[in-house]
Amino acid sequence: VTSDAPRWLLFGASGQVGSALAARIGEFADCEAPSRSEADFGDPESLRRLVHGVNPRVIINAAAFTAVDRAESEPDLARRVNALAPGVLAEAAARAGARLIHYSTDYVFDGAARLPYPESAPAAPLSVYGRTKLEGDRLVLAACPAATVLRTGWVYSPGGSNFLLTMRRLMRQQDEVRVVDDQYGAPTTAAFLARATLAVLHSSQAPGGVYHITAAGETTWCGFARAIHERLRARESLACRSVVPITTAQYPTPARRPAWSVLDCTRFERTFSFAREPWKQLLDEAVAALPLADYT
Ligand SMILES: NC(=O)c1ccc[n+]([C@@H]2O[C@H](COP(=O)([O-])OP(=O)(O)OC[C@H]3O[C@@H](n4cnc5c(N)ncnc54)[C@H](OP(=O)(O)O)[C@@H]3O)[C@@H](O)[C@H]2O)c1
Repeated sequence: VTSDAPRWLLFGASGQVGSALAARIGEFADCEAPSRSEADFGDPESLRRLVHGVNPRVIINAAAFTAVDRAESEPDLARRVNALAPGVLAEAAARAGARLIHYSTDYVFDGAARLPYPESAPAAPLSVYGRTKLEGDRLVLAACPAATVLRTGWVYSPGGSNFLLTMRRLMRQQDEVRVVDDQYGAPTTAAFLARATLAVLHSSQAPGGVYHITAAGETTWCGFARAIHERLRARESLACRSVVPITTAQYPTPARRPAWSVLDCTRFERTFSFAREPWKQLLDEAVAALPLADYT
């Protein structure tokens, strides 16, 4: 990286998507990645000064309040982190003339559809998390219409806290794992989203706005768990002998989740000439990247 390399500012670098991005951005740019203590999204106004001080060409916001159930009991903090802070970043990006990439979620939809949701589908979030993320999308695009808002879903990675790692823990401990089989989505890796994000940044002409981007295909949480079980069983000994389908009603959670989270990603594919991998292929890649030390 030379001293005149474009300066990038990445928020949320310790998270799943942020760390997948941080691992790749170094190849392209001089990147600052402030931690939560240096850039507190709970205090949105503090971000304005920070952006001004860095004067970046590109801002990527992968920070968010992602604890969907906890957001129900902490709506004020969830709103500051997911809506107000991204709004401030968007104002600062517009002022600095910086390119802004922000992430959003399938949980802005109510899941009543049975066809993949296009970007134009009306949003109707069922949860505090979904409502605050939707407000974030709107604030970002109102302040910075050139921003790219990437709506994705069912994100996981070989590290962090996510469905793959929860399933592995349960499958090691229990002879049977019960998993919801009436919510549909496309399991998407953080590494895939990092690739998709770089495709956005390599295109200079693309219009701003919301784009849907997930892995190709669809399954249920139970289908995802079965695919995880197959792959892990081939690599380590598991206590789990069967993955049992249950309904959402049998697995109550504080936040309601959409039954249908499948997103139509045509706009992203066409705009960025991007080919999406099937979710099972991404799972193979993620399982192969699970730290070997964990296979004892
Ligand atoms: N995970 C999913 O299934 C999913 C689905 C759809 C959309 N998305 C969206 O994708 C994006 C990335 O999600 P992810 O799964 O990578 O999230 P993640 O792994 O939960 O990481 C969240 C990041 O945000 C940071 N953060 C949280 N609260 C903060 C605060 N108050 N101030 C500053 N930073 C804070 C975290 O920092 P610490 O490490 O310090 O906590 C972490 O770096 C988010 O916009 C999310 O809404 C995720």
